[in-house]
Amino acid sequence: MKPAFVFGTRPEIIKLAPVIRAFLDRGVKPLLIHTGQHYDYEMSSVFLEELEMPPIDHHLEVGSGTQAEQTGLAMIKIEKVLRDERPDVVLVQGDTNTVLAGALASVKLKIPVAHVEAGLRSFDRTMPEEINRILADHASEVLFPPTEEARKNLEREGITKNVYVVGNTVVDAVLQNAEVAERKSDVLKRFGLKPKEYVLVTAHRAENTDSRENLERLIEILEGLPIRAVYPMHPRTRGRLEEFGLWERVASIENLTVTKPLGYLDFLKLERNAFAIMTDSGGVQEEAIILNVPCLTLRYNTERPETVAAGGNVLVGLEKERALRYLQRLLEDGEFYRKMAGAANPFGDGKAGERIAEILMGLHERGELMVRG
Ligand code: UD1
Ligand code: UDP
Repeated sequence: MKPAFVFGTRPEIIKLAPVIRAFLDRGVKPLLIHTGQHYDYEMSSVFLEELEMPPIDHHLEVGSGTQAEQTGLAMIKIEKVLRDERPDVVLVQGDTNTVLAGALASVKLKIPVAHVEAGLRSFDRTMPEEINRILADHASEVLFPPTEEARKNLEREGITKNVYVVGNTVVDAVLQNAEVAERKSDVLKRFGLKPKEYVLVTAHRAENTDSRENLERLIEILEGLPIRAVYPMHPRTRGRLEEFGLWERVASIENLTVTKPLGYLDFLKLERNAFAIMTDSGGVQEEAIILNVPCLTLRYNTERPETVAAGGNVLVGLEKERALRYLQRLLEDGEFYRKMAGAANPFGDGKAGERIAEILMGLHERGELMVRG
């Protein structure tokens, strides 16, 4: 069997690594196609190295651009590779422009697409990710929603065939790496942080960083933090802060350490030892509940509502008063803290990667892996 993986950003590498490993463990060598949507060392290569991925077979160097430029160029380049390689299936993960490009290029060549982390919906069509998710799901032949809730979203849109609830591969990634991170990373020492005495912050989403007004609201929250904080900053956010002349203001916040994006082992260790996490990241919301760290999400909606229902995540948006009130409550109310930290992980048992490989190999063996007429 010849599976191909199309990926291009930090979270895709992290969440596909367990699936790639599961194929390798079963004696199948997958074809790896990296679009180059993320290209800085600390947004891409560091993860390929830390997660001990095999060499990339095709590096497409698509880079940054407008939505259409990035998606269009990726499609053109992916199509060329798929034409030559003719894999049995193309796996994509999540909701980036790389995912949309991979799914569209593939299905139009009649190569079946398998979508890992299918069925997520924020119901906010102003997010580029929401459009990517919906279109990728509808272009896919095999769908791997992480939860029953995600499966129901697919059902509501009429997608019921070849849908397998397998859990989220992020659990596999965390379980495979958290202990290694704890042993190997010296990140707490490097930043002079003590366990459970700091807040970990990440924010990069377009709706939070593309407007000066929203960036200022984010900064006001950071300025009000009553506890030490560390913020590994996505290059998008750094770029926008500089563009709007707001970088100096962030850099001068006393309680706050801003760093470049960190490798996975350092970041996992920071997450696990944080008092709380404030983020607009999808993957970080998931990892917080897996690692039993309370999460305050800097958004008004989430495509991971399971984390909120379980009690481990609160949507605070960019509302300073709300965000700081919740943080203060976590600091003062031990019972509330334990309740949030103790929320049950809704994303499965860490065997999603193995299930995905098994299911796809089974479909292939039975001759059922195809784009149907
Ligand atoms: C993309 C995804 C988002 C995901 C995020 C993961 C889309 C529409 N968005 O957002 O869903 O959460 O990846 O991190 O696909 N840049 C660099 N170096 C890099 C990569 C990007 O400097 O290695 C800068 C460039 O200025 C670029 C900007 O970041 O224009 C945005 O990058 P892009 O890939 O377009 O989107 P992300 O914000 O990374
Ligand atoms: N991450 C990392 N280093 C960082 C920030 C995040 O390794 O400095 C990891 C994090 O553990 C998670 C993933 O990157 O697995 C999340 O990526 P991101 O927030 O960029 O994207 P999203 O999940 O929002 O699509």
